[in-house]
Amino acid sequence: MQLAYDIAVTYSENFERGPQLDAAPAIPQTSPRPFLGRSVNSPLGVAAGLLPNAKWIEAYAARGWDLLTYKTVRSVARECYPVPNWVFVEADAGDGPVYATELLRADPAAISSAVCFGMPSREPAFWREDIARAKAALAPGQLLIVSVVASPEAGWSAAQVADDYAQCAAWAVEAGADVVEANYSCPNVCSAEGQVYTDVALSETVTETIRSGMGELPLLLKIGVFLDTTLQRDFLRTVSGSAHGITLVNGIPREVRYPDGRPVFGEQYLRAGVLGRIIHEPCVRAVREARAVIDAEGLPLVLAAVGGVSSVQDYADFMAAGADAVLCGSSPMYLPGLAVEIKAGLG
Ligand SMILES: Cc1cc2nc3c(=O)[nH]c(=O)nc-3n(C[C@H](O)[C@H](O)[C@H](O)COP(=O)(O)O)c2cc1C
Repeated sequence: MQLAYDIAVTYSENFERGPQLDAAPAIPQTSPRPFLGRSVNSPLGVAAGLLPNAKWIEAYAARGWDLLTYKTVRSVARECYPVPNWVFVEADAGDGPVYATELLRADPAAISSAVCFGMPSREPAFWREDIARAKAALAPGQLLIVSVVASPEAGWSAAQVADDYAQCAAWAVEAGADVVEANYSCPNVCSAEGQVYTDVALSETVTETIRSGMGELPLLLKIGVFLDTTLQRDFLRTVSGSAHGITLVNGIPREVRYPDGRPVFGEQYLRAGVLGRIIHEPCVRAVREARAVIDAEGLPLVLAAVGGVSSVQDYADFMAAGADAVLCGSSPMYLPGLAVEIKAGLG
């Protein structure tokens, strides 16, 4: 199996080296379709995470992924947590611990994994230039989504958090983003930016502030699973109008341990985001529920579905659940050719 990201070495080494991939295959022709007011080759892409710079964006664009998300950036430089940041796991469908494994499933579509990076970011001077390089690498019919997050300090008010999000969004727009994605959910940071979506009032302030600083460009909000359906409805009602769509869901937090019980990412990050096969079903449910609210309330929001897509069937599950687009987080690392496979069936 070809692994584009080397989980044994640091994030910086992967960042600098770029993806380890074979030559790009021929890309099947697809009929253009609308997404967020633009015409795209397909509603299929890579979610925020695997593509931290223009080198990675270019490589995956060349492999037929049409919605390319530039990994979350901040208004200040932030180091990555130490290795390990990404492990393959064995998991059951419950909510107990998942266990790191070095044995890769023979069928890549059956893989689950867990990540804990802490949303590292290069300084804005770097990414503001690099986004322009990433944009220049795209073909017609491909979109660059730039994911942004705030970096709150102790004691910051909601307005300060909102301003920091808005600053990153404005810089992303200036640098050439086609779409901005504000990350309101990260299972692996303990500070406020990891849970914005669970606070409707904060989500409202942040979303309106971002919107006022970025003109008419589309804004997506990346969220996690809602445990409470009333909260979900209030959130969607509140952000609709300022945001154009929702990206759901981020990794699902579970305890990540070695088989002997030790926490993989350290005691502080015992719970981390679980990805891949094991989260697909709950993510399809989350998309179906969000679609039901959006339709019942007539909200002008698109849905970009994320979670455990590693086969043509997984893509179809999300489309049937009411997604407008499908983004893959972890599978493009071990299935870089999945876009070609899915697009072959789109025609
Ligand atoms: C290497 C890696 C890094 C990630 N970093 C981010 C991030 O910076 N921001 C974000 O919103 N999500 C991040 N994610 C989460 C993905 O966007 C996605 O929500 C998650 O992987 C679930 O999708 P999947 O089951 O297809 O992997 C990351 C995922 C991976 C694999």
